[in-house]
Amino acid sequence: MAQSKHLLQTWFPHTTSPFIANAPMFGFADYSLAAAVTKAGGLGFIGGGFDFTTESSQLTKLNGQLEKARAEVGDISSNNLPIGVGFITFKPSGFIDNVIPLLQRHRLAAVWLSFPEADADHLPIIEGIHQVRTKSDWNVKIFVQTGTVQAAMEAVKQGADVVVVQGSDAGGHQWAQGASLISLLPEVRDTLAETGAASHTAVLAAGGIVDGRGCVAALGLGADGVVMGTRFVATEECAAPSLIKKAILSGSDGAASTIKSIRHDVFQSTDVFPRQYDGRAVIGISYDESKSGASDEDIIQRYKDAMKNGEDDRRTVWAGASIGVIKEELSVSNLVKSVQQEVKSVLNRLNQSI
Ligand SMILES: Cc1cc2nc3c(=O)[nH]c(=O)nc-3n(C[C@H](O)[C@H](O)[C@H](O)COP(=O)(O)O)c2cc1C
Repeated sequence: MAQSKHLLQTWFPHTTSPFIANAPMFGFADYSLAAAVTKAGGLGFIGGGFDFTTESSQLTKLNGQLEKARAEVGDISSNNLPIGVGFITFKPSGFIDNVIPLLQRHRLAAVWLSFPEADADHLPIIEGIHQVRTKSDWNVKIFVQTGTVQAAMEAVKQGADVVVVQGSDAGGHQWAQGASLISLLPEVRDTLAETGAASHTAVLAAGGIVDGRGCVAALGLGADGVVMGTRFVATEECAAPSLIKKAILSGSDGAASTIKSIRHDVFQSTDVFPRQYDGRAVIGISYDESKSGASDEDIIQRYKDAMKNGEDDRRTVWAGASIGVIKEELSVSNLVKSVQQEVKSVLNRLNQSI
């Protein structure tokens, strides 16, 4: 494990320990969040979206975001831009022709792939990035988010540099048939060791980590660093609407107040993910109405009417099961610092008590 921890520090020399990244939450993780995370000693990710066609407005927007990110992080690195972009890959067409050149032009340090229709769909993308990488001095690292041991090993075989192991406490989209980090991570770590890939592959944990305690647990289970999504939504630099931040800050008992389901997408007509994925979100008005017998058609109409009237209260609040531990909106730099400091104090406490 020490060796792959060393990998992350070698690949991203501006980062401090333990390694922390924000999840590339499409729509929420923009340049200001990503740049703040990088400047705080983590690795910032921008959510790049899922449309890779030539006409993609998402890619046009991303180009502008990357220019702003470069200006924001300034002189941390004169070569690579020490930021990553995450993509949702269930419609991979156009990635090789339109995304890879964009990433190379901005000299992104990392690319994150998640939610393919089939695991095999990542192979041509990863091979495409490898080809450009070997022919140039652009040393981008490839992160693949996975929710099963099988998917993690497939990603390693395909040439991923970093496997992000996503447990079922995670906020947002994830494997419908999932498991928590406590069972998933050690098995990924063991299997990785058996394949001999551990020397050149790093492992990150995602799902329900919101503070130093979760971070220590993840490191103990075999991660080299952590990814936080929901926790970073409740930061000053995150562009999430205040209603969503408030729902996260006031939420408690994630076991009862959030649920993994495809219904959150159905209610707001965003049910476009392949069936092996669902998503964890706060149980909201639409979910309650559905349970009380309202039809999907009625709920979808009410959602559309509310959005037309500028009312946000039916919007899905994607959030992880640790929502109850998030009490305060923090600046990104305070959050990263406090998690890293808490890791040390938890380790001291454990050292004394065991
Ligand atoms: C609001 C929100 C949006 C998300 N959007 C994406 C996304 O666009 N792409 C992606 O790969 N993962 C996305 N995720 C999942 C994260 O990658 C990550 O697995 C998750 O946030 C980890 O769990 P946590 O939220 O408990 O920290 C999202 C998560 C949240 C909470």
